[in-house]
Amino acid sequence: MRIKALFGALVALSVFAACTAEQATTPSLDDLFLTRRSIRAYEPGRTISEAQVRELLTATQNAPSWANQQPSKYYVAITPEKHDAVLEMIGGNKDRVVNAPVMIVSTFEKGKSGFFRGNPANDAGDFWGAYDNGLSNAYLVLKAREMGFDTLIMGMRESDKLRELFNIPEEEMILAVIALGYRAEEPNMPVHRPLDEVVKFF
Ligand SMILES: Cc1cc2nc3c(=O)[nH]c(=O)nc-3n(C[C@H](O)[C@H](O)[C@H](O)COP(=O)(O)O)c2cc1C
Repeated sequence: MRIKALFGALVALSVFAACTAEQATTPSLDDLFLTRRSIRAYEPGRTISEAQVRELLTATQNAPSWANQQPSKYYVAITPEKHDAVLEMIGGNKDRVVNAPVMIVSTFEKGKSGFFRGNPANDAGDFWGAYDNGLSNAYLVLKAREMGFDTLIMGMRESDKLRELFNIPEEEMILAVIALGYRAEEPNMPVHRPLDEVVKFF
C-alpha cells in the first residue's frame, strides 16, 4: 500500500514538474510577435522533417477564412532536388535563404473566398482569397517561431516557373514562397510607423 502511495506521489510530482517546465519554456504570443522577424541568413547543415512541416501546416488550418472556404494551399519543397530548384526561382532572395532547408510555396484557389454561386460577393473579389492566404501565412510564421524555426516570406519569385515545377493548376494564384530554417544571425527590429498614423478612432 505504501509503495503504491509513493508511486502515485512520484507520478504526480513528475506531471507537475513537466507542466511547470512547459510553462517556463512556451513563449507567449507577445514573445512570438517580438522574436518573429524576417530572417535573411540561415544556419547551414540543419534539417527540418516532414513531420515537423506537417505540424506547422496543421496549425495554419486554424486560421479563419471567408465562409470557411479554406482556399490556401501549400507546396513544400523538402527534397534537395526541389529545394534547389526553388532557389533558382526567387531572384535575389537566393543568397538570403540558401541555407534554409525547406521552401514552402503558398497559393490560393481563385473564385472561392469572396464568391457566392460563382459571382463575386462584393468589390474585393479574389482579393479575399489573398486575404485568407495572408492570414494563413501569418499563422504559419508565428507557429514556426514557436517551434524554434525562422522564416522569410518572399514576394519576389517567378510564378511561371514555380507553377511548372509543382504542377500548380491555373485556378490557383501563386503568392509567396516562404523559407523555413534556423536563424544564423539576430535581425534588427524594423521601424514601425507611429500607431496614430495608421489608426483613427472615431
Ligand atoms: C508579402 C510579403 C513579401 C515579402 N517579400 C520579401 C522578399 O521578396 N524578400 C525579402 O527579403 N523580404 C520580403 N518580405 C519581408 C519584409 O521585407 C519584412 O516583413 C518587413 O521588412 C518587416 O520586417 P519583419 O518581417 O522582420 O518584421 C516580404 C514580406 C511580405 C509580407
